[in-house]
Amino acid sequence: MGDKTEIDTLASTNGTDEYRFGYTQEEIERLRYQHHVWTKENQRFISRAGFSKGSTLVDLGCGPGYTTLDLSQIVGAGGKVIAVDRDGERSLPLLKVQAEAAGLFNIETRAANLETFDLQEGSVDGVYGRWVLMYLPETRVKSLIGRMVKWLRPGAACALTELCNFGHIHIYPKSKYLPEIAEALSKAVTGEIGCNPEIGNDLPGLLHSAGLDVEINVIVKAVRATTQEWLWPDALFRNHLPALVKEGYLAHGVFDNFLAEWEARSKDPDAIFFSSPMMEVVARRS
Ligand SMILES: C[S@@+](CC[C@H](N)C(=O)[O-])C[C@H]1O[C@@H](n2cnc3c(N)ncnc32)[C@H](O)[C@@H]1O
Repeated sequence: MGDKTEIDTLASTNGTDEYRFGYTQEEIERLRYQHHVWTKENQRFISRAGFSKGSTLVDLGCGPGYTTLDLSQIVGAGGKVIAVDRDGERSLPLLKVQAEAAGLFNIETRAANLETFDLQEGSVDGVYGRWVLMYLPETRVKSLIGRMVKWLRPGAACALTELCNFGHIHIYPKSKYLPEIAEALSKAVTGEIGCNPEIGNDLPGLLHSAGLDVEINVIVKAVRATTQEWLWPDALFRNHLPALVKEGYLAHGVFDNFLAEWEARSKDPDAIFFSSPMMEVVARRS
């Protein structure tokens, strides 16, 4: 693996280097499991971008790098993946350990804030990003896309996937309390810095305005209670809702009622959790 880790010293706009849900061991594990549950969808999405052997790719907001490792195998020893995340303390070192253990030496990690991160014009064959633009202040997303489009060589594509229409998150049988939970999660992600948890809705237009040819697809992941996959939404709710109560985004009573309802659904083999719709955008430079 390259040792080109660079620390971007520019301060982040919220005065911390934390992303909304932090970098605890619990969150790193949650992201790992989330990646596992979404494996098939993610592979289908990446294949639509047509990334190939020998390419130079960028993984925007790679976190602990679960997809970076997949991209690294796609481009092979003759290619390179530039894995960018603001968390140079926990996520990127974890990526390096995993890459070394897997014998992958084509990953270059960069600790940087995407609000200002930049690369040379025409220097990459593809860009991948998932669940990251939703954590940037909305006003900074357009400028990142403007920079990103310049990095792409002619014919190169970016594959970006983000939540859209978050209010459509659903539980069957219908949950009485889920709409308030969804609203609290949405407000917490928006935070004081004005992130857009539904930035997936804006991406096709932003990429088209930046001059790319855009193809979209929207998917929803549905998981059944009493299966292993149910642990994915279960971890999201159990790990993160208590903090939302403490921070005042969610009323205590609503949380208690939701949790009791969720526990009942979790034991019902006919219950289904439907994710927020995910906007998948593949946009290509002609
Ligand atoms: C939900 S995790 C997603 C990680 C990975 N993309 C995945 O699909 O598993 C969001 C990641 O975005 C990173 N992130 C958020 N805002 C960022 C910013 N302004 N600059 C760089 N990274 C950022 C966080 O540090 C975190 O690792």
